[in-house]
Amino acid sequence: MPGLLVVGLQWGDEGKGKILDALSSTADVVVRYQGGSNAGHTVYHGEKKFVFHLLPTGVLADGVTNVVGNGVALDVVQLLREIDELAASGIDVTPRLRIAERAHIVLPHHKALDAAREDIRPPSGVFRGIGETDDAPMSQPIGTTRRGIGPCYADKAARLGIRVVDALDPDRLEARLHPVLKEANALLAGVYGAQRVELDETMAEIGPAIDRIRDLVCDGGGLIRSRLADGKRVLFEGAQGALLDIDHGTYPFVTSSSSTALGAAVGSGVPARAVDHIVGVAKAYTTRVGAGPFPSEIHGPEGVALREAGAEFGATTGRPRRCGWFDAVAMRYAVELSGVDSVCLTKLDVLAGRETIPIVTAYQIGDRRIESFPADVSDLEAAKPVTTDAPGPATPFLDARERSAVPEGAFAYVGAVEKAIGRPVSMLSTGPDRDALIRLTGDLWGESTGSGPTA
Ligand code: IMP
Repeated sequence: MPGLLVVGLQWGDEGKGKILDALSSTADVVVRYQGGSNAGHTVYHGEKKFVFHLLPTGVLADGVTNVVGNGVALDVVQLLREIDELAASGIDVTPRLRIAERAHIVLPHHKALDAAREDIRPPSGVFRGIGETDDAPMSQPIGTTRRGIGPCYADKAARLGIRVVDALDPDRLEARLHPVLKEANALLAGVYGAQRVELDETMAEIGPAIDRIRDLVCDGGGLIRSRLADGKRVLFEGAQGALLDIDHGTYPFVTSSSSTALGAAVGSGVPARAVDHIVGVAKAYTTRVGAGPFPSEIHGPEGVALREAGAEFGATTGRPRRCGWFDAVAMRYAVELSGVDSVCLTKLDVLAGRETIPIVTAYQIGDRRIESFPADVSDLEAAKPVTTDAPGPATPFLDARERSAVPEGAFAYVGAVEKAIGRPVSMLSTGPDRDALIRLTGDLWGESTGSGPTA
């Protein structure tokens, strides 16, 4: 029952897409199991570059079945956009694509609520709701991607969500939407002073989109479980990163799904033991988009220089990413939480030319020195990084394909990371290209009985 899981260990944007792209052709099934169009990863097909937000990474690989799992917040319109973009390049992915009937649909009012909630949270922290006479203090904006993710998962938890299976019959969809929109519009218009979302608009957008995916809808969990029972190789594709996890991340500055490895079973519909090996992906430094605490952040020109060197701008929103040093405190937490077996380290090439690179090994909070990751956001905000200098790669090695092309200093840095987080580094990514990947350990699928080639 070979299951291989790839998750991000930081605040997303670790380079998972490229790793998944490299591994997907060795799998029989690829499952995307959480998040929605807030994620974005770049996949290359020959010379062509595609940015996917929802399509699993295996859609370009022959013979791979791709499942959009039940845990995904599914923006059907965005999914069709991605399918159509590929079709325009002569690639029909629909024979390789399946959509879990239990996935919740992102609806237009989710996007409207996401934007309205961000907009009413002014940096001043004072909210004047419609009809409010006093100044009610408000929390800071989260800096969401405004893709409707939070409100979609909120509706799911509130038992107001609409799953793909519930939308297949237009009459049932309309009947379910009626009360949901009544509540949503009471909030949108009555509290946030935003525009209402009408039922007929929603039906006009969602109805035809559901019609187009109808033939792809199936019991996603059932499909994956039966392929696992047949000994096939299943690659579970995480989105975002551990520190954005709704339960275990830097709450409330998180996304609204389980973005640690813990979410894979529930979001795919498989037993937890279906996963045999967990690869955590981490950058050799750290980035974050959106608001929230970031203890290892580099402020000022050095941070800007790192952003420029690493081209750190969001794949989904284009926003500049905040940059910081590798944070071993946060990483130890992330690898332990997800039960990570090995780590893929990305973008160390960006740090080439440095004789030494700081690694954060502890936080100083007032007179306390701590080595564990705090739950309290105010502790994280107050945390001053305690660093140690690790050796760095003195010479460039962008695009290196072999160990011999990588300077010794890079392996010394890898060794320092392994020591600091207590996990082996199994892969070193040396550039955006799918083949710019150096395997440092053996087959990640382990003693696999699956039919795919060796990863
Ligand atoms: P949401 O997921 O759009 O609700 O955004 C919540 C937080 O997660 C914001 O700080 C976003 O910038 C962040 N976020 C969501 N998806 C990603 C991602 O794929 N990469 C990096 N950050 C993300």
